[in-house]
Amino acid sequence: MDSILVEGGHELAGEIPIAGAKNACLTLMPATLLSDGPLTLTNAPRLSDIQTMTQLLQSLGTEVTQMQGGQVLSLSSHALTGTRADYDIVRKMRASILVLGPLLAREGRAEVSLPGGCAIGARPVDLHLSALEKLGAELDLRDGYVHATAPSGGLRGGIVDFPLVSVGATENVLMAATLARGTTEIRNAAREPEIVDLAECLRAMGARIEGEGTSTITVEGVEALSPATHRVVSDRIELGTYMLAPAICGGWVECIGGRMDLVAAFCEKLDAAGITIEETARGLKVSRHNGRVRAVDVATEPFPGFPTDLQAQMMALLCTADGVSRLEENIFENRFMHAPELMRMGARIDVQGGHATVTGVERLKGAPVMATDLRASVSLILAGLAAEGETIVNRVYHLDRGYERVEEKLGAVGARVSRVAGR
Ligand code: EPZ
Repeated sequence: MDSILVEGGHELAGEIPIAGAKNACLTLMPATLLSDGPLTLTNAPRLSDIQTMTQLLQSLGTEVTQMQGGQVLSLSSHALTGTRADYDIVRKMRASILVLGPLLAREGRAEVSLPGGCAIGARPVDLHLSALEKLGAELDLRDGYVHATAPSGGLRGGIVDFPLVSVGATENVLMAATLARGTTEIRNAAREPEIVDLAECLRAMGARIEGEGTSTITVEGVEALSPATHRVVSDRIELGTYMLAPAICGGWVECIGGRMDLVAAFCEKLDAAGITIEETARGLKVSRHNGRVRAVDVATEPFPGFPTDLQAQMMALLCTADGVSRLEENIFENRFMHAPELMRMGARIDVQGGHATVTGVERLKGAPVMATDLRASVSLILAGLAAEGETIVNRVYHLDRGYERVEEKLGAVGARVSRVAGR
């Protein structure tokens, strides 16, 4: 299992290209199931999760052609050969549940393994299922699978009123609604940029959607969808992660392709911490030169609030801030697993349930640490950039799920980061 070695204490200077969004691509790819025409995705990120989704779609009969080193994906589902998403794939990647809605809408049936939980929480899918039932789906849960069937005439439009905001459930029902007969209204819908990106892609395929990016999305079902080409939106979580690199160890980085509207709430907190952010013609330039960052309080919320996927990374910064910061994790029930690892590096963190109090220290100390999930992994690397001495982040297979060539991107701006095979 690979490890990442980080030698701390080096200021950064240079440009980091921001890739297409993993969490957009993982919902755009299943959209191919809705149409028998080709769907071409450009600006696709080169990540192991994308490979896993490719395998899943191929197991259903989708033809996937990767071009330009994986940055362009051509997907064609003109002749599906199956409607079953097996446990051995779904357990590796929870986003596999996003084939459920499209399969139901296109084929009238689906057998999708329940994803099970993961390190950060139980991650139930009850909201996905209840939303699809509102479109007429009949669901039978047995032997760890959802056995779903649509009415003989196909799914029909309905009113879906989510009791809490769910990105995945919004995506699943949005995709299913595009082929349902009649009108669907999705209330308390997720507003993330990945939802907007999905709606734009579906509209390019001929879907009739209004209101994406707001809490109410309306869909008029159509008979069939058509071929389309869509550019995957820039990854706001990768963007925020790399914006934190100069913030934590000094210097500057220009994140090419970064857009302020994707990370507005996050930028407000960086600004309050004393970090300089400048919008340039090519992206966002972030710099810090003078002294320690200021402590700030952070509470994660659905978009447009502070993203839960940047909480771990922000905690790494606040471990070195001048003062006490309070972090509140309101989306997932167990998303402070990076805290004990940061404490091995000398951080002072008190975790009480969904709250963490961080008392900043002058300097973290390098240490061997263990990654527990995707965002925790990169939070430990960020901490290593600022720490005295060497940090070894183990179990980085998590990292490769969500970050393209992290050691190359950081190395290109002066960080001393290297990958050690098979520790
Ligand atoms: C998406 O997960 C992202 N994953 C997550 O990113 C992200 O953290 C999350 O949205 C929140 O922004 C992808 O897009 C592939 P949710 P998702 O449904 O859709 C509860 C990363 O690091 N819930 O918005 O699974 C759930 O337990 C990953 O890239 C139910 O109770 O998140 C959570 O507490 C991690 N029932 C809350 O809602 C359901 O049926 C929000 O989850 C669904 C969700």
